[in-house]
Amino acid sequence: MVNKKSPLPLYYQIEEHIKALIESGELKPGDVLPSERELAESFTISRMTVRQAITNLVNKNLLYRKKGSGTYVSHKKFEQSLHGLTSFSEDMRSRGLDPGNKLIHFELSSPTEELIDHFTLEEDDLVYKIKRIRLANGEPMAIETSYIPVKLLPGLSQKVLSSSLYRYAEEENGIKLGHATQSLEASAATEEDAKHLQLDAGDPVLFIQRETFLEDGAPFELVKSTYRGDKYKYKMNIERLR
Ligand code: GLP
Repeated sequence: MVNKKSPLPLYYQIEEHIKALIESGELKPGDVLPSERELAESFTISRMTVRQAITNLVNKNLLYRKKGSGTYVSHKKFEQSLHGLTSFSEDMRSRGLDPGNKLIHFELSSPTEELIDHFTLEEDDLVYKIKRIRLANGEPMAIETSYIPVKLLPGLSQKVLSSSLYRYAEEENGIKLGHATQSLEASAATEEDAKHLQLDAGDPVLFIQRETFLEDGAPFELVKSTYRGDKYKYKMNIERLR
């Protein structure tokens, strides 16, 4: 496994060995690695060398460390295209996963200044504030807080929100979604995010804000979401500007 006579550095050989175990499925996502001491003993090399190999694999995102717990094999991230206005349910189904929701907040309230400006509302208009944990095959992926003017979807109920909001809006209310602007920022999980997303506070997350508009240009929803950093990566196609 490790050839001390090889010109290849020992840490590199260990790296390749661990990589091969991951590729062959002998080490699976979420598996814990033996401790540095155990690895050093089994390869009869120094702990420093093992640490270097592990650090390199952590930097390549193949492994991750959990404070006070150990080093684990990373999960493959979902690749989400930044092209096309799709719903969470559609995104999950296109990956062969079962979309799910846990509604944790549903409220009709008077809009804040930010929402009055965004949706150009009257003072006495109401907005829905909806907070859902979005699940894939039962596993939490994101927390989403959505604001929608009540007058756009007067019949929206808690029951409806246990499945797709976009399907309900389009198929049952004849809403014609047009486009959205979306921004992504790196952030760290708060205590609340951590509780709902099975993370530790401070773990990396992606903060995504989407403003969705109808075909006629009127604003439909404002959504602030927190996606698990260990599960998601975003992909975009870019063309040479001429
Ligand atoms: C994504 C978007 C949200 C949108 C949601 C609708 O998660 N970021 O802005 O509200 O999809 O998803 P669904 O139709 O599955 O409820």
